Order: sequence, then structure tokens, then C-alpha cells
Amino acid sequence: MRRDIVEIKAKSVSGFVHKAELAVLAEKGYVVEAKMTIYDYALQYLKDFPPADAAYHNYKETTELLNTLAANNPETASLFSAGKTVEGRDIWCLRLNTTEKGGKPSSKPGALYIGNHHAREHLSNEVALGLAAYLLEHKNDADIKKYLQTLDIYIIPMLNADGAEYDIKTGKYRWHRKNTRINADKTIGVDLNRNYDMRWCTAGASHSPYSDTYCGTAPFSEPETLAVKKFIEARKNIKTLMSYHSYSDLLLYPWAGLDTPLENEKDRKVFEKLAKGMVAFTGYKPEQASDLYVATGDTTDWAYATAGIFAFTTELEGGGFYPGTGIIARAVTNNVKAAVYLLSVTDDPYKVLR
Ligand code: ARG
Ligand code: ZN
Repeated sequence: MRRDIVEIKAKSVSGFVHKAELAVLAEKGYVVEAKMTIYDYALQYLKDFPPADAAYHNYKETTELLNTLAANNPETASLFSAGKTVEGRDIWCLRLNTTEKGGKPSSKPGALYIGNHHAREHLSNEVALGLAAYLLEHKNDADIKKYLQTLDIYIIPMLNADGAEYDIKTGKYRWHRKNTRINADKTIGVDLNRNYDMRWCTAGASHSPYSDTYCGTAPFSEPETLAVKKFIEARKNIKTLMSYHSYSDLLLYPWAGLDTPLENEKDRKVFEKLAKGMVAFTGYKPEQASDLYVATGDTTDWAYATAGIFAFTTELEGGGFYPGTGIIARAVTNNVKAAVYLLSVTDDPYKVLR
């Protein structure tokens, strides 16, 4: 007999059995209510960054940090779920606003910061979390205080929580980019930054499920991008957006999906001015996203085209997807400064033209 009982309840028993034992147990009249391989069982406990990268926040740690920030700053911060991922994880959103909390609407100009569209870009979660921590730590500084009182600030650090967990769950990085949707051909994942409804899947994206830039079966086919869509559609006050990615030391603005400059010259000038303002703090290179490569269905093109939001993509530093923990402090410090600059113009981005 190869059995190991772990727990005995009134009407059930749980434990380990060799798979050959299952038939024996069935013969004896036992019903198997649930089973998993010992490998999957062990994986539940592994799920974490390699020890050298322990400073990075996994989903549980991210959730805990956000809860702590909200609990310690009840007059300023509130935490709510903006939706669920494919696997049912909450997509946490920390809101910073001294008057309105949770899902209550606000007429104050809004700013939205999103990290971790892409699973392996863990530094983007750190920068968004670092921004949240910074703003709350400095909530009594004159400038930050003003933004917290006059703006409606939202931070979603880990949009693709499933992917981020999947990337680390064996204790070794998997270089996973997409979410964890199981596609029709059994491959895993849709590229969330190709799933927005703007020139969807017409260039720089693929209809092949195995592709790393798979656009999905339809625009907003994924719960994560749908959550962002609903979020923005429900908050007409949002004026600026930053989507953090890694890596390339770049600051990108629309169009991403079109090789020609923004037709609206006034808006193009605002994008260029804001980009300049931000890279003064990061040293990144500002350019139209399509100068890097043309890609359709990204967050920024959709947010700008459908909601007039001045939406940017930051490609963080580090020279790779796994740059180690040494990079975190500097990347956070500089990108927080850039993010605060974006806050300084969120009341009226057009003011930079005056
Ligand atoms: N690296 C990001 C991605 O592939 C950036 C996309 C920005 N758009 C662009 N056309 N380069 O999703
Ligand atoms: Zn990315």
C-alpha cells in the first residue's frame, strides 16, 4: 500500500496515494472528490521569485502591500477590485483621492497608472507599487498634497496577475509575456497589449494563438483588458494614463499602430511636450511608439482614440526582463518623478502649450 493520510474529516479523508491505488480505493467504494498530481501540489507552495529576486512582489505580496497602504492612509487611499483575471484573481486598484473613495465617481481630473500588462515585466509592478508608496509617504508635502486633494489618482500595479504568477511559479523564470488564457489549440495566453479595440490585429500582432503577440479571438476578449475598458469608460474624468512595460529606456506615445504622426497637431504637441517633461527625470528616449515598431491594439492608442486620454507607454530600464533587484530603487525613484510630473499637468494637459 502506498498511502499517506493527511487529514480525516467526518465524511472524507485527504492525503497522498500512488496513482495505482486509485483503482483499489474505487473498488472499495471510495469516491475521489478531487485530485491533483504531487507536482501540482508542490507548485502551490513554490510559486515565488528565485531567492535572489525575493525583493520583487508576487501577487500575494502585492495584494498585502496595497492593503497595508490603504489601511494606513484611510483619509487618502482606498483599494478595490477593478475586475477578475482569467483565473479569477482580483485586479487590484489603489485609489488616491482625499474626498472620494472606492468606486464613487469623481469630477476631479483623473490619472491612471497601470503595470504588468506583460507577465515577465515584473519591474513594471515594482514601479507602480513604488509610486503608490511614494505618494502616500509624501502626502503632506505641499505639491503631493495638492494632487491628492485636487486629482483622482488610480494605480493598478499588476493587471496580468495570472501571467506574473505563472512566470514565477516553478521558482525559475518562464519568460512568459501573455495572460494565461488557454487557447483553442491549448497554447497559453493572449497578448493583453494587442487586445484593445484600436486597429485590432491589423499590424504588429498575430492571429496565431501560439504567437507571443497573439491578439486574441476578438478585441477585449480578455477579462483583464475588458476591465481596463470598463474602468476608463466609467471614469470620463481620466485625462492621463501611463502603462509601464519593460525594457528599453523609452517613453512612447501614440500612434503605436500607425506609422504616421498623430493627425491632431495640437494633441501631438501636447504628447511631445509631456514626454519631454517626463524623460527629464528618467533619461529615457521619447518617441512615437510606432518608431520602435508598429503594433496595433495597444492600451495607449485605444485610450487616446476613444477617450482622448494622453496615454503613454514607459519601457523601463534594466536591459532585460530580469534585471535583478539592484535596479529597483533607481527605476522607481526616477519614474516616480516622471509620474509626479504627469500629475502636475493632469488638471489640464493642454496648459503645456500655453
Ligand atoms: N513593448 C510594448 C509591446 O510590445 C510596447 C508597445 C508600444 N507600441 C509600439 N508600437 N511600440 O506591447
Ligand atoms: Zn510589455
